[in-house]
Amino acid sequence: MKKLVTTLFAVMVSLALVSGAWAGERIGVSMPTQSLQRWNQDGANMKAQLEAAGYTVELQYAGDNDIPTQVNQLENMISSGCKVLVVAAIDGTSLTRVLASAKANNIKVVSYDRLIMNSDAVSYYATFDNFKVGTTQGGYIRDKLDLDNAAGPFHIEMFTGDPGDNNINFFFGGAISILQPYIDSGKIIVPSGQTTQAQVATVNWNTEEAQKRMENLISAIGYGPNGTRLDAVLSSNDSVANGITNALVAAGYRKENFPIITGQDCDRPAMKNILAGTQSMSVFKDTRMLAQQVVKMVDAIVKGTEVEINDTTTYDNGTGVIPSFLCDPVICTIDNYKELLIDSGYYKEEELR
Ligand code: BGC
Repeated sequence: MKKLVTTLFAVMVSLALVSGAWAGERIGVSMPTQSLQRWNQDGANMKAQLEAAGYTVELQYAGDNDIPTQVNQLENMISSGCKVLVVAAIDGTSLTRVLASAKANNIKVVSYDRLIMNSDAVSYYATFDNFKVGTTQGGYIRDKLDLDNAAGPFHIEMFTGDPGDNNINFFFGGAISILQPYIDSGKIIVPSGQTTQAQVATVNWNTEEAQKRMENLISAIGYGPNGTRLDAVLSSNDSVANGITNALVAAGYRKENFPIITGQDCDRPAMKNILAGTQSMSVFKDTRMLAQQVVKMVDAIVKGTEVEINDTTTYDNGTGVIPSFLCDPVICTIDNYKELLIDSGYYKEEELR
């Protein structure tokens, strides 16, 4: 009898594998906000691709970066029987308690784009090479100002993103790793004196916040086409760059004399500014590629097969290094946007007009 039961069980298991017993499993996808284009794209891509792979998807946006809402939505995903949670955290340090309950329920957690800190419930991390995003931005400023040859000194100001987003350590850290030697040698001057990550952070990556800080810098230092020279503004992403551009346009800058401004995401307003000459570059992170990688991760987790990773050293979340997959970010300027964004089907040309 025991043998028969064991055999029956084995048959059932193999039938389940063949017929895909995992099909229809629930996957929770938690995104930080709908106010920025990229997270809407991320959410939509994840949902479509997970559904195409046979999963049922519970996709939630946490209002406009509202941490208690994100915690609540995760609690609901846990109680509604999700097998895997894919989470882009608003604040990387605020999910320890709720994710402990995921772990207790044997639910696996994938950290999406931003690393979730101080939680041993996180199994994997999928993102872009965030340090490379920063070195690409810093390298662009170095090359455009020809810092190794030009006499200088040059005036720059710096902006990064939300202090609760672990990514800024890499974006700002990467950029400053390129620029610091020039600041030290005096080739670059930061007239505001604001050079620490905390001083240049922008809460919630908010455009209006960035605009306000740039306006304050303009009036405090006297920047303007006929005032104190401003050569470049380092910005870690496009929503922040957008605020900086608004302030500089209001101060009278035009494309002929616009300071260099960096960005990230290739979101539509930024691309329009790049085409208009009021932003210099962005960093393209193909969210379709990230979603595809995460869907592969989820699928391997659910089916118990090997999860593809390519980095096991960079991202320690305070409980140890989280095995990661890093996608490649690519510089985007007016010279290559067609090939990168239009030819690849990411945007239609008319969306950027
Ligand atoms: C993402 C960026 C995004 C920013 C603001 C970061 O964590 O990596 O792509 O621009 O958040 O949403």
